[in-house]
This record gives sequence, C-alpha cells and structure tokens, in this order.
Amino acid sequence: ETVHLKDYAPFGYLIDKVELVFRLDPEATRVTSRIAFRPDPAAKSRDFFLHGEKLKLIGARIDGQKAAPEMVKGGLRCTVPDAPFLWEAEVEIAPAQNTALDGLYMSNGMYCTQCEAEGFRKITYYPDRPDVMAPFSVRIEGTQPVLLSNGNPGRKGEGFAEWHDPWKKPAYLFALVAGDLVCHSDSFTTRSGRRVALGIWVRAGDLEKCGFAMDALKRAMAWDERVYGREYDLDVFNIVAVDDFNMGAMENKGLNIFNSSAVLASPETATDANYERIESIIAHEYFHNWTGNRITCRDWFQLCLKEGLTVFRDQQFSADERSAPVQRINDVLALRGRQFREDNGPLAHPVRPESFVEINNFYTATVYEKGAELIGMLRRLVGEDGYARALDLYFRRHDGQACTIEDWLKVFEDACDRDLGQFKLWYAQAGTPRLGVEEAWDGSTFTLTLTQKTPPTPGQAQKAPLVIPVATGLLAPDGSELVPTRILEMTEARQSFRFADLPVRPVASVLRGFSAPVILERRADPRQLRLLLAHDTDPFNRWEAGRLLARNSLLAMLRDGADPDAGYFAALNDLAGELELDPAFRALCLALPGQDDIAQALHDGGTVPDPVAIYRARRSFAEAMARALQPRLAALYEYSRPEGPYSPDAGAAGRRALAGAALGLLTLVDGGGRARRQYAAADNMTEQLGALSALVSIGEAEEELAQFYAQWKDDRLVLDKWFGLQVGLAGPETAVATARTLSEHPDFSWKTPNRFRAVIGGFAANPAGFHDPSGAGYGLVADWLIRLDPVNPQTTARMSTAFETWRRYDADRRAQMREALERMLATKGLSRDTTEMITRMLG
Ligand code: ARG
Ligand code: ZN
Repeated sequence: ETVHLKDYAPFGYLIDKVELVFRLDPEATRVTSRIAFRPDPAAKSRDFFLHGEKLKLIGARIDGQKAAPEMVKGGLRCTVPDAPFLWEAEVEIAPAQNTALDGLYMSNGMYCTQCEAEGFRKITYYPDRPDVMAPFSVRIEGTQPVLLSNGNPGRKGEGFAEWHDPWKKPAYLFALVAGDLVCHSDSFTTRSGRRVALGIWVRAGDLEKCGFAMDALKRAMAWDERVYGREYDLDVFNIVAVDDFNMGAMENKGLNIFNSSAVLASPETATDANYERIESIIAHEYFHNWTGNRITCRDWFQLCLKEGLTVFRDQQFSADERSAPVQRINDVLALRGRQFREDNGPLAHPVRPESFVEINNFYTATVYEKGAELIGMLRRLVGEDGYARALDLYFRRHDGQACTIEDWLKVFEDACDRDLGQFKLWYAQAGTPRLGVEEAWDGSTFTLTLTQKTPPTPGQAQKAPLVIPVATGLLAPDGSELVPTRILEMTEARQSFRFADLPVRPVASVLRGFSAPVILERRADPRQLRLLLAHDTDPFNRWEAGRLLARNSLLAMLRDGADPDAGYFAALNDLAGELELDPAFRALCLALPGQDDIAQALHDGGTVPDPVAIYRARRSFAEAMARALQPRLAALYEYSRPEGPYSPDAGAAGRRALAGAALGLLTLVDGGGRARRQYAAADNMTEQLGALSALVSIGEAEEELAQFYAQWKDDRLVLDKWFGLQVGLAGPETAVATARTLSEHPDFSWKTPNRFRAVIGGFAANPAGFHDPSGAGYGLVADWLIRLDPVNPQTTARMSTAFETWRRYDADRRAQMREALERMLATKGLSRDTTEMITRMLG
C-alpha cells in the first residue's frame, strides 16, 4: 500500500473536457460524468484505470455503448479505444453518511466538498491525480437557493445552476456547494480592468461577520498584483464558510471553502489572534490561485511546491501588512513549536517525502512551514532581484502545468545562473541541522568557525552537509554596530569566516532574522545576551537573546534548583519601558518559553523532562518576573490599551497584546482584581478572553466561566474558546478532571472537528495535564481517538501526533504512552490514516 516517488508514471490519457451533473439528495445523490479522453502520445501506459471509492456504479458507457468495466480495489479498469473517446458514467453517493468530511458531504444541512488530496474519487470515477488537468462544466440540480461550483456562472433557473471553469485543473480543485446561504458581496477591479464579483457565503446569522475577511481578500488581491505581478483570472471569486471542516481552508478554483473559524469575525466574538489568522488564511488560499492552481503539482510528493511557496507568500503578505519583525518571530515560534518537534521525533520526514501510505498524513509542518523556510533561504541566497527574476520565469515557463521541485529549482538556476545541486538536499534530507559556533580573537581579526551536523532521522542514518545562509552582524561592546549583516554561506561541515581589522573584540549576532531553519548550539554568555537584548539592530535576534536568557534560567531552575535570573528581569524591565519600541514586539519579549520548548531543551541537553516540574518552574519563574517588573507592568497595563472603539489593525492589536501580557503576569501576584475588572468591562473578545484566561490560570474564574457560558452558549466559535481555555490552562491538579468533565458536557459535539480539537486537542496540548503521572491523560486522549477514528480518520490521525514525543520521557510515562499507542493500533478496523501514523510513531 506504500506509494513511492520513484514509481511515478504519467497517466496514459489526456482529458479535453469534463461535464458533470449532480442531482442532489442527502442519501442518494446521482452524479453523471461525461469525460472526453484521448490517448496521450507522450505517455507509454495504456492502462485505463479510474479511481473510485465508496461509489455505487449505476452504469457506464464508452462512445454511447454500454461498457463493462472491471471493478478493482480503489477503482475500475476498462478496455478503451486507441483513439479519442467519450466516457460516460452514473454513480450514486450518500453525502449525509459522509462523516469523514472528504468528498461530498453535508454540514448543517448544506452540501459541500473537500477534494484535496484524494476526495474526488469519492464523487465519481476519475483519474484522481494532480497531473491530469481538464476544464470542467458542472450542472447542479437541487432545491437549495444557492448552488455554487468552480469557474464562471452559466445558466441558472428554478432548481438548477450551471458553472463553467475555463481553466484546466486537477480534480482536487473541484468544489460544489449547495445550501441556504446569504452573500456578503463586493467587487475588485484588477489592474488590467477585469471587474471581479467577490462573494462570501455564510448562514444568515453570520452575515455581519464577513467584513474583515472581505477586506483581507481585497488587500491580498492587490498585494499579489503589486508584489508578484499576479492577477485574478475569473469573473467571480467566491468563499464559503462551513462549520464542519478538517483543516483551515481549501483553495478550490474560484470557490474557496473555509472552516468558519477562518472567516467569521466580529469585535465581540473574535480575538486579535483570530483576526490575524483569518487575514493570513484568506491570503494563503487566494495566493494558491497562481501557486497551486495555475501551476500545480505533478504528484503529491511535490506538495511543498505549492504549500511551501504559498505559506512563504502569505507570510510575506502579513509582514507587509503588519509588522515584519513581529511576523518573523511568530513564524519562528510556530516553526519551532510544531516543525522542530516533528523533525526531531519519529515522524520526521523530508520536505519532499519519498513514500507515503496516506497522503493526508503529509499535510505537515515540515511540508508547509519548513517548506516555506526553504523558499526564504533561496531568496536570501540569490537576493531579492534574483528571486523576482526566478519567480517571473516560473510563472512564464510553467503556467498551466503540473510541476516538480526539479522544475522549481531549475528556474532559479536559469534565472540566477547558479548551481543548486547542494541546496536540493534540503528537500530530501529530514532532521533539524545543529549549527555550532566557535569564536576566536587575535587582537584585530575575529574568526567565527561554524559547524553543522544533522542528527539521524527514521530511514536516514547519514546526513550530508547542507547549504546554510547564516546572516551575521557584529556589535561593539558598547552596543553600536561594528559590521552590518552579511550572509555567511556555509556549505561544509566545518567552515571559518574572518572579520579583519576590527578595533575591539566584537559580540557576534549570528543567524539574524532566523536565516535558516536550524538549531543554534552556542554556549551563551549571559552578558553578551543582555547586550544583544538591549542593542542588537536585528529585532529577531534581540528577541531571541531575551528568549535564551529566559530559557537558560528555567533550565538552571529545573536542573540545579537555581533562582530565576534577576539580571534578565532587569534587562527585560528596561526593554519593556522603551516607548519607541513596537508594543507588539515588547509583548512578545514578555512571553515565556513554552512548556514543550523547555522539555525539548532539557531532552537535547541529556536531562529527562518532567512536565509537571516544568509547569511549576515556569509558574514560579513567571511570578518572580511579575514581582520584579511590577511597577513597569502596572504602567504598561494602564497606558498601553488603545482608546476608543475596537479596531483589529496591527497597531491597536499590538497595544492590546502588550497590556494583555502585563495583565497575565500581574494577575499571578495581584489576586486577580485587575483581571476581574477587565472581564466585567470588556467590550471585545480579546479583552474578555484575555481577562478570563488570566483568571483561569490562577484558578479564580468560576463565576466568570459561568457568565461566559451563559453569554455565548449559542455561538459555536466562541464556545470552542470556552472549552479550549479550560482544558488548556488547567494546572496539573485539575487538568485531567477538567477534560473529563468537559468531554461529558452536552455541548461537546465530538463529531465536529472544531469542537473535538478544542476539547481533546486543547487538553493534549496542555503538558501538565496530558502527561499526568497516573497516565490518565494519555488514556483519555486514546479513548477519544479510538472513538473518532471510524467517524473521521483524518482528524484522528492528525491528533494522534500528541504522542509523537513519547520517547523523550521517563520510563513510566514512556511505558504508558507506548501502551496507549499500542492499544489504539490494536483497535479492530483502525483507519489507514491512523494506522500509518501510529506505526511510524512506534518505529
Ligand atoms: N490545500 C489546503 C491549504 O493548504 C489544505 C487542504 C488539505 N486537506 C487535506 N485533506 N489534507 O490551504
Ligand atoms: Zn495551502
């Protein structure tokens, strides 16, 4: 059942046209297809295999004659003419029974689809592979007032609508929506003058929550024209919000389908973080129109071709629209939190994997986020102009094609006249490289010697040296910049770089802007770190210096029972009071390293982490920090909050973030008075939820939790927050009991992925609860995954990664986690998705 990259072979036929008719019915939808095939002169194979799963074949014809296909595992095979022919088939499917949310399914009475990666084969028989591209015409027959599909609208009448998509596309970009929806409409005129009708389609009660997403869409459209020269190419662009969705959103051609959590926002119901996420997902899906749809992937091994590039583009967009340093820090936090964890455990895989059992298991942080880092490194290596030339060539050369990473790298080689043979290793080699730094000073020359080493990962014992761009600058001991940023291009396992004729021994600022996805291993002198925290001209490394001081202090508390680092608090106090510094940046500096961060750092240093001890150390560190910075925090809390009505813009959000960070710390030492007052007075969700979180953290939120529930019980997205915050913030004494109680709550509708993620996922992401020494946390999550698996394998498989760090812990916890994994694996009928994940985790 394993598919290998090396076995790729093109399909034997081309498709000139696809015509689909849907007669909708929850239990018995009829889908008829008319597909014009012709032999592909360039392909060797004449195997006419069409994918199909969970389909009832009513009948099939070839050129009007009844066909007798052979039904085989995963589809059908048929003898066909060695000339162009028309394939016609009728199948029956039951969207109401489709709880896996893959293919055509129903959510709150509305029909919708999710076809990436291999869902179209659950709609009709088809060569369901991304290298088969065709123009689609669709006719939908149904009683629903709104009937949508890809492309431009065609004829429409009582009980039907037709759609025509002129752009050839792979089946995974097909979409259909039918339901009782209302539209928030607007329009955008492209720079060449095409007027595009924009629509965001939602349930009636949500109409007032579409404004921000629409605004983000228009900004994304303008940005892609301005920065990449990419224009939109249809008369309409529609977005639909659905409540039941396995992921964030999907870039179907001209008809993006979104998890409602990634579209809907109002000041009262959405936090600043929600607004930010909506903006970036709206942009991401829109940007796919060029990087994904016009130019798609030859096969699913090339997934990073569209995802890495599109994540990189959405990160650039957010950096331009908001604050670039803050965006970079947040992107690195996400990368370290999810991708480093993956890359340093049993699920490690290359950005371009070489084999898989279930492709849905490879929509990972490695493919997406590390994939985006590779694009960033390429850009750093060839420069901004080289990058722009390469991208222009990519769009010119490959428009309308299904491509590979080789095609992608070739445009850089051709446009920038550069050999990328060694760079390509980044796509093939898994694992996070460790970058070592040695310094030498001879009175006038400063020498940095860099070493690199990538630890072994599953199936890859030996690693070769990579090309690593190491952005480096030098500071003088007084904090002024001696040598501005330059890119040290590392290509060997060990390499020295010299900086000559310096007046004083400098302090090196290495890996500025996090110029490569590596772990920097450098013995950090606290005085140097404090200098960087106070003076580095690179904002990322400024933040990083503070983070390292905090982390080192926490590690010393855990390993040697040391006291929290007072020198760090003093330096942080100064930084927090720098009024000309972006409040959002200062808020990030006031945040502590996460529990998982510390666990990984302990593990890397050869100490077995104890999640409960980490929770306690982190709490006492935060309390000490709150006491040491109390006057400063009180002033920040008082004066940072923006005045006037709520606005989600980056400036106001940054000020709320700073005030919120101060409140979180102050609440640990002030008994909760401020938080309670803020909770009562809040007129927006950011401040309401911030205050509630602060109170939950000190276990003083009983009344407010009840009030919040009463206020929001009818708003599903807000209720997810209510669940998530309780299981996520509970301390070691109460976390398991809280999760158990909430999983018995009448509003825990576990078949809805958002709610399941909020409760079970939220709990699994709380180390102090999940790793309860009794093993009850593991048991609870395993029980729920076993229950969800037959209903929704994709979400189950994804959430099983809660166990991926099992080898890090002590013998008891290891045994308990292994037992939970083995119990899941032994479940009769366990899905292919979850089986693959657990097998890989057990190694
Ligand atoms: N292409 C989508 C995106 O990145 C993700 C869809 C993934 N779906 C899945 N079933 N794996 O926006
Ligand atoms: Zn994507």
